[in-house]
Amino acid sequence: MEVIRVTGGARLRGDVTVVGAKNSALKLMAAALLAEGRTVLHNMPRITDIVIMAEVLRRIGCAVDVTDDRVEIDTPAELGGEADYDLVRRLRASINVLGPLLARRGYAKVAHPGGDAIGSRGLDMHIAGLQRMGAEITNEHGYVVAHAERLQGATIWLDFPSVGATENILMAAVLAEGTTVIDNAAREPEIVDICQMLTAMGARINGAGTSTLEIEGTDRLRPVTHRVIGDRIIAGTWAFGAAMTRGDVTVHGVNPEHLAVTLDKLTTAGADVTRYESGFRVRCERRPQAVDMVTLPYPGLATDLLPMAVGFAAVADGVSLITENVFDGRFMFVNEMSRLGADIRTDGHHAVVRGKEQLSGAPVTATDIRAGAGLVLAGLCAEGVTEVSHIHHIDRGYPDFVTQLADLGAKVERVRVPDDSFSL
Ligand code: EPU
Repeated sequence: MEVIRVTGGARLRGDVTVVGAKNSALKLMAAALLAEGRTVLHNMPRITDIVIMAEVLRRIGCAVDVTDDRVEIDTPAELGGEADYDLVRRLRASINVLGPLLARRGYAKVAHPGGDAIGSRGLDMHIAGLQRMGAEITNEHGYVVAHAERLQGATIWLDFPSVGATENILMAAVLAEGTTVIDNAAREPEIVDICQMLTAMGARINGAGTSTLEIEGTDRLRPVTHRVIGDRIIAGTWAFGAAMTRGDVTVHGVNPEHLAVTLDKLTTAGADVTRYESGFRVRCERRPQAVDMVTLPYPGLATDLLPMAVGFAAVADGVSLITENVFDGRFMFVNEMSRLGADIRTDGHHAVVRGKEQLSGAPVTATDIRAGAGLVLAGLCAEGVTEVSHIHHIDRGYPDFVTQLADLGAKVERVRVPDDSFSL
């Protein structure tokens, strides 16, 4: 078993560059299904989720070549319609092939997806939206099975601005007959990125980045070359990391507007934040002050930064109230952070965190991608050694995390340790 071993005490200092956003990259790969021919994606993160998504597409009939930060997808005229359980269960984003397959092929059979253990993650809005467009959808033996002769444009009002549902309906609507309106659509920068690629492919979309997307369907799209936007969640991880270790980090490769709330909170906490065109610098000479934080759909503070926000609050001066509004199980990592001595009390979707000058190193377990990163950062603020296990979660979202941390001055390494599981 591999673990990340962190010795606390270092202040993160230096420059770091983020690559393309996982949560855009995976959906852009699904979007490649919409056009026959060769799609090329640049600035792709080298993470396991991309490898799994490549395999999902191969099984549907595409030829996929993954090299460094470039992914090339050759989509055939005739696609298979099925995405099987053993792959899909490992990756939430694989549900994003549902809309494109249905639009291109009139049939899709996609297993119920897996993904992080951060709460219930329904598909009702994906399904209701596609049904509104005329699809017949049933649940069969763990699979979502969808049929449609030709999808018809419709007006769809989402109960919640779901990222995945917005993307699936959007990718179905670009090849539907007539106009589709998605109201209460998600506004995340990753949705704007997908809209930009789809528009370059020949789709007609209005309102990208707003709550109302209007899509005029077309008969055919063409493949394109596209560069993925920078990963705001990794960038936000570095921002919190710099502030909580009282460091000085300049992050390149991301639009600071995509982290407006995070950077504003860090400023309120006493950090010195400078924004650049394609990056930002966070400096924090003294112990940060406690601040209250609330996660919300974009442009609110990203739920994916919640573990970093809690880790930050755990070492800030004072008491912070942290509220989670997107996933009902997002606080599952709190027990692990408490092992490091963090004083955290949760009640429903709130956590009260009483900051401590220093945490105390201990063995902890990553419960999901972001919790894993948050625990590593907390380990940097702990006296002694922290060992984070189950780091396959971190590898799903953070390319070269340990190398980048070490380059910023952290005492950190990946080490193989004997597996501590045993059977009675
Ligand atoms: N929801 C439903 N029904 C649906 C769809 C969503 O009830 O049909 C609920 C979910 O259970 C959740 C909320 O709506 O409570 C928001 O879910 P959303 O659909 O917005 O999230 P997602 O598309 O499943 C993506 C990212 C997550 C990120 C969220 C929110 C991908 C692959 N995943 O998930 O990223 O937290 O949006 O921004 O894009 C991560 O990268 O670590 C990660 C978990």
